[in-house]
Amino acid sequence: MLPELITEIPGPASVALAEELRRYESHNVTYVDEAWPVFWKRAEGVNVWDEDGNRFLDMTAAFGVAGLGHGWSAPAMVEQSQVLVHGMGDVHPTRLKVETCQMLSALTYERWGAGRGKVVLSNSGFEAVESAMKTARVVTGRAGVLSFANSYHGMGYGALLGSGFEKFRQPFEDQLAARRVSLAFPRDDAGMERFEEALAGVDASGIGLVLVEPIQGRGGKIVPPDAFLPMLRSWCDQHGVLLACDEIFTGFNRTGRLFACEWSGVVPDLICVGKSMSGGFPISACVGKAEIMDAWPVSSGEALHTSTFLGNPVGCAMSVMSMKEHARAELAESVQGIGDYLKARLHGLRSPLIRDVRGRGLMLGVELAHQDGSPASDVAGGILGEMMQDGVFMLADGPAGNVLAWTPPFGVNREEVDYVLACLQARLEHHGGISA
Ligand SMILES: Cc1ncc(COP(=O)(O)O)c(C=O)c1O
Repeated sequence: MLPELITEIPGPASVALAEELRRYESHNVTYVDEAWPVFWKRAEGVNVWDEDGNRFLDMTAAFGVAGLGHGWSAPAMVEQSQVLVHGMGDVHPTRLKVETCQMLSALTYERWGAGRGKVVLSNSGFEAVESAMKTARVVTGRAGVLSFANSYHGMGYGALLGSGFEKFRQPFEDQLAARRVSLAFPRDDAGMERFEEALAGVDASGIGLVLVEPIQGRGGKIVPPDAFLPMLRSWCDQHGVLLACDEIFTGFNRTGRLFACEWSGVVPDLICVGKSMSGGFPISACVGKAEIMDAWPVSSGEALHTSTFLGNPVGCAMSVMSMKEHARAELAESVQGIGDYLKARLHGLRSPLIRDVRGRGLMLGVELAHQDGSPASDVAGGILGEMMQDGVFMLADGPAGNVLAWTPPFGVNREEVDYVLACLQARLEHHGGISA
């Protein structure tokens, strides 16, 4: 449904709540100013209603979580919460944990014809990345991680070690003792040549893991050339290094394939998933080829890696329900279809500020730059606030925050896309005039 606004944005209830939040939440967490944020009250499909009763269109799927639409897996949550809301994940588990692991295996390694997958469940995306890091340490005996500039893997210490976002990693660098090698993420053929040269020069001896997003998400929706993942795969094979695809953002049909690594036919040793796995419950997983995961020591009752909420039954129930839907081949096709439409419309935007339109499926980005080539972060930031005045939630990505990001729920329709694009065209014209 198109937006319906009945108050100023943000409305009085949001403004009052923001003041309270400022008083009680550590101020490093939520950005607050006179025009931000809007407090969400309920959501369904592609729509979100705020505390003031305004209806918005969500072009973010709330960080990519609501791929199937807001509230899609809520029935599983309601049903499960009536019988068991918390279990003892690594001591006395539930049937749902078994089903979740089975489905993760079926949708990854079994589907790729690579045998069974084995799973370490966790709560947040970064924890799944840390499971991958620990697995690599266990399997290879090497602590080093090779990752990419502008990669984003979350904020836990282990995940920060792989992160290419300098601003998040650097303040804690001295506490991250292990070795990290960072290479540029190639975005075109010339970048690919440079990458090949750089990779050839890497000393693999201390490296146990290559950690990569098949398409960089927060880094700015960057799709690497087709040869990139296959090249990493053969480098890893040559040097006995594990290849982990971080599909926390790209996974579960976001890019028009069930997993983005499928675009290149590469089977990673480990795959990290989260976000849209449950559609709203904090649950994530690191799945690996069975023979690799079997390098972990058998639990003696004291697991080498676990956590209190691991395999939470409500999260598992929502994941099983969501994954059954994600397994339908028609879903990937429909993401591709509406994604192609959105991308074509983005290419049709007219503004000298637009430097690039890129991405795959429903993971698209519009990079904005000034005439001198500098990132138009100021414009992108302004547009986010202005689009909220049109009833649209959007985010900006990229290290400079100048890439308008498009990751809506998959059910977004053409009328909604057309509405958002008409608003954006008007906002762009306001900022920079129309190109000749
Ligand atoms: C590719 C990728 N990996 C990991 C994460 C971290 O996930 P979480 O915020 O759930 O810890 C994110 C979050 O945006 C992500 O996009």
